[in-house]
Amino acid sequence: MSTVFNFTFVPWFRSVAPYIHKFRNQTFVIGLTGEAIAAGKLASIAQDLAMIQAMGVKIVLVHGFRPQVNEQLRLKGQEAKYSHGMRITDPVALDCAQEAAGQLRYEIEAAFSQGLPNTPMAGARVRVISGNFITARPVGLIDGVDFQHSGLVRKVDTEGIQRTLDMGALVLISPFGFSPTGEAFNLGMEDVATSVAVALQSDKLIFLTEIPGIRVDANDPESDIDTELPLADAKRLIAGLPVATLPTDPGFYLQHCVRACEGGVERSHIIPFKLDGSLLLEIYVHDGIGTMVVDEKLESVREATIDDVSGIVALIEPFEKDGTLVKRDRTEIERDAGNYTIIEHDGVIFGCAALYPYPEERTAEMAALTVSPQSQSQGDGERLLKRIETRARAQGLQSIFVLTTRTMHWFIKRGFVQVNPDWLPEARKRKYNWDRRSQVLVKKLG
Ligand SMILES: CC(C)(COP(=O)(O)OP(=O)(O)OC[C@H]1O[C@@H](n2cnc3c(N)ncnc32)[C@H](O)[C@@H]1OP(=O)(O)O)[C@@H](O)C(=O)NCCC(=O)NCCS
Repeated sequence: MSTVFNFTFVPWFRSVAPYIHKFRNQTFVIGLTGEAIAAGKLASIAQDLAMIQAMGVKIVLVHGFRPQVNEQLRLKGQEAKYSHGMRITDPVALDCAQEAAGQLRYEIEAAFSQGLPNTPMAGARVRVISGNFITARPVGLIDGVDFQHSGLVRKVDTEGIQRTLDMGALVLISPFGFSPTGEAFNLGMEDVATSVAVALQSDKLIFLTEIPGIRVDANDPESDIDTELPLADAKRLIAGLPVATLPTDPGFYLQHCVRACEGGVERSHIIPFKLDGSLLLEIYVHDGIGTMVVDEKLESVREATIDDVSGIVALIEPFEKDGTLVKRDRTEIERDAGNYTIIEHDGVIFGCAALYPYPEERTAEMAALTVSPQSQSQGDGERLLKRIETRARAQGLQSIFVLTTRTMHWFIKRGFVQVNPDWLPEARKRKYNWDRRSQVLVKKLG
């Protein structure tokens, strides 16, 4: 096996570990557009979902069927009718929707039943269970338009879904609901997925869509994808856009993400189905590839607590092993947890630094400054330094110092100057390891 492969594969696999741990036992609701299935993406999406499920995530899959229903209508010589961004479901369209849903369920179950050797599905055992989990009510008349058999979600059988998930099954829901009189209603996939996510208080709602996400400038199709959109910004954006009627309109999925977020679902995502593996990229990579709507900014710098110790140990351990940082015992970190400042994203710790004051000398040591290799060069190191400086100032200190063997230039660029180790406070000088010959750098706090 090539050494290059070892050097790329192992760090890559380890970089995914925090997400695997974090998402185990969480519930994700996935809204899979009918367009994704029509584009032939079902097999690869099923493979990725099977893998995500194998890593302990509970999955509810809600499928759409817009193009499939339209195809059935076309075969019957009928035209699809829409108003206010919703299908008008007359009796013929209802028949077509039922046929399309039956066919799609069959295809989805088949996709999850694959298991050929040497494919990602080999050894996978995904049990797919569908059911009458949704109670619906009619849309009724809007502006004089009768939506007939088109409905909206009235109630979600959370207990039924939860029990099915707890059995280890993947729950598959078609966009259909039934009224207490047994009448069937055709629902919007987005409405069903959002209602289910809110009812279950799921950890994520993910729409696999024909759009790549929400662009930084919604009016510029060339602008970058906004990977993280705080709820307040998403609401402001929707307010400034024309009412979304087509799935490709920027506000179409976004309005559902906002509803989910307001309903208590912490993170809602819009990701493209066109990109192979987009689910894996969004869930297991720091920045993701689509747009995630969140209640607040996920990346936060804050003081550590005892609960963060494992995350800190995992972060600094590789740098202790390669000699960049001095070895610290876990018990020492537990004792000093309050001295640490951490930087966390999506519940995973990506950076840390500790402040050890020497009040008599009006100075403090900044120790264990670390940013995880996957997140370096994005300004997190500097952010931690600024926070440590603020903490030191708040304690009335006039300078901070660091001991370093390899990172001198980083500190010099940020206003530190080298001094003789004799400069160190007496108590620190006694612990100075003369063999390690660390350089001592000091920064005066203005
Ligand atoms: C030093 C460290 C904390 C910087 O974190 P970061 O988040 O990458 O820092 P920033 O994004 O604020 O700054 C990145 C810049 O620092 C530079 N840099 C990173 N490590 C450096 C080093 N050892 N020496 C000099 N410059 C360095 C990068 O090249 C980058 O420069 P650029 O902006 O010109 O591209 C991080 O590299 C790290 O964790 N290193 C291993 C642990 C360590 O050495 N800690 C210090 C112990 S005293």
